[in-house]
Amino acid sequence: MLAKKLHPQELSESQGSLAPAYGSRQLSRPVPRYELPDDMMEPALAYRLIKDELQLDGNPALNLATFVTTWMEPEADRLMTETLAKNSIDQDEYPMSTEIQNRCVNMLARLYHAPDDQDSVGTATVGSSEAICLAGLALKWRWRQRRAAQGRPTGSPNIVMGHNVQVCWEKFARYFEVEPRYVPLTDERFILGVEEALELVDEDTIAVVGILGSTYTGEYEPIAELNAALEALNARTGWDVPIHVDAASGGFVAPFTRPELSWDFRLSLVRSINVSGHKYGLVYPGVGWVVWRDRQDLPQDLVFHVNYLGGDQPTFNLNFSRGANQILAQYYNFLRLGRPGYTEIMGALMGTAQHLAGAMADTGHFRLLSQPDALPLVCGRLEGERGYTVFDVSEQLRQRGWIVPAYTMAPNAEHVAVVRVVVREGLSRDMADLLTEDLRTALDHLDREGGEGSSRPGAHQRAVARPAASVAPARGHRQEKAKTKGVC
Ligand SMILES: Cc1ncc(COP(=O)(O)O)c(C=O)c1O
Repeated sequence: MLAKKLHPQELSESQGSLAPAYGSRQLSRPVPRYELPDDMMEPALAYRLIKDELQLDGNPALNLATFVTTWMEPEADRLMTETLAKNSIDQDEYPMSTEIQNRCVNMLARLYHAPDDQDSVGTATVGSSEAICLAGLALKWRWRQRRAAQGRPTGSPNIVMGHNVQVCWEKFARYFEVEPRYVPLTDERFILGVEEALELVDEDTIAVVGILGSTYTGEYEPIAELNAALEALNARTGWDVPIHVDAASGGFVAPFTRPELSWDFRLSLVRSINVSGHKYGLVYPGVGWVVWRDRQDLPQDLVFHVNYLGGDQPTFNLNFSRGANQILAQYYNFLRLGRPGYTEIMGALMGTAQHLAGAMADTGHFRLLSQPDALPLVCGRLEGERGYTVFDVSEQLRQRGWIVPAYTMAPNAEHVAVVRVVVREGLSRDMADLLTEDLRTALDHLDREGGEGSSRPGAHQRAVARPAASVAPARGHRQEKAKTKGVC
């Protein structure tokens, strides 16, 4: 979120301060909302004030929009709380935390079949977005080195990807000045098409991106097919165009549900992989990973060495300080669950997703676009002539407390609008049945009464006037965000 400083005229008197009723016993003056207070406050009061305000946040159990973990075991909570103060960059002070990060990178490199005769390297990141920026930079640097060695121009790198990429790829391209070349979607194809991708590749292509688990539909992109086609193209042209796999969600699903699927370092051109620890890695938000097939895939002039915290510390991250506790929590899950634990959990999520998909199809209202053997989510478009849209369906479900986003597909399929339910550990079969019941009620209502027929996200909320002098409704804001930016 990008916060804005509010002008005094935008604030009514009551909006300028927090005025908890209980505060009048302990506070001599109102607490300013947007200014650093002039008074100190008792810790218990500060705690209570914030805790009370946070009650207006949504209920994570009913948020079916996000992939991000909202529950961990009490032992993981305890470990994280006890290690809150550890700074992961401080490798000299916390060598054991650093060692644990190394172990996690090792486990992931092996899970993704990094060849034993190569030196894989990797790092923890703040989610897949940072991981993708780092991987993208390494690809850009490698391409530039190759071109410079050939005495060729290095001014116009491009990257080829489906238009269904998550926004972090657009950020990477814009922030680091790489031309994004998008493979357009069609009415029937919502992921990258291999032939179409190859048409966009040229000698300035730093990589083609394959997504293991499209954010929009959960589908796996045909990475093995892409690898074969690019190998042939490279052989024909003498180019050396690699693949990066964005396995933000699928990197913790496919190895356990489809171990035979070749999408990782088993494929010759896959040079780097990112994964979000805080999605199906089952850790609270704030952790991701990037792994390179070989040390050579990470040009050394991107790695900084600092010594002001003690001994020599190599670092390749966008930020410097960050908490170590999410990394430790990832390690907790690796030890606690191992292969059998992840296999069991991912299998159960797939079962729930299929159960829900069957129920959604049985309503006779939806055509499902998600696949039973990809990410555990259900995504469908309304079928037939209806006097309402998926946005109306989402709105109806929201009245029952469910956050089920509706959104439009990426170009050139933006006229296709869908609803999506992401199945995470918190969604039991029982809850899936309750959701189905509410969905049926919503559809009955809309069949009878029709909907507002809006064709864009967030239209309903914008129509609702907010009481001028009230505290900004945190829940409404959060839900609006979840709905308009349902793809996260
Ligand atoms: C395919 C894909 N890539 C990247 C991201 C960004 O991940 P993160 O939230 O970990 O930065 C997402 C988020 O949903 C995603 O689905």
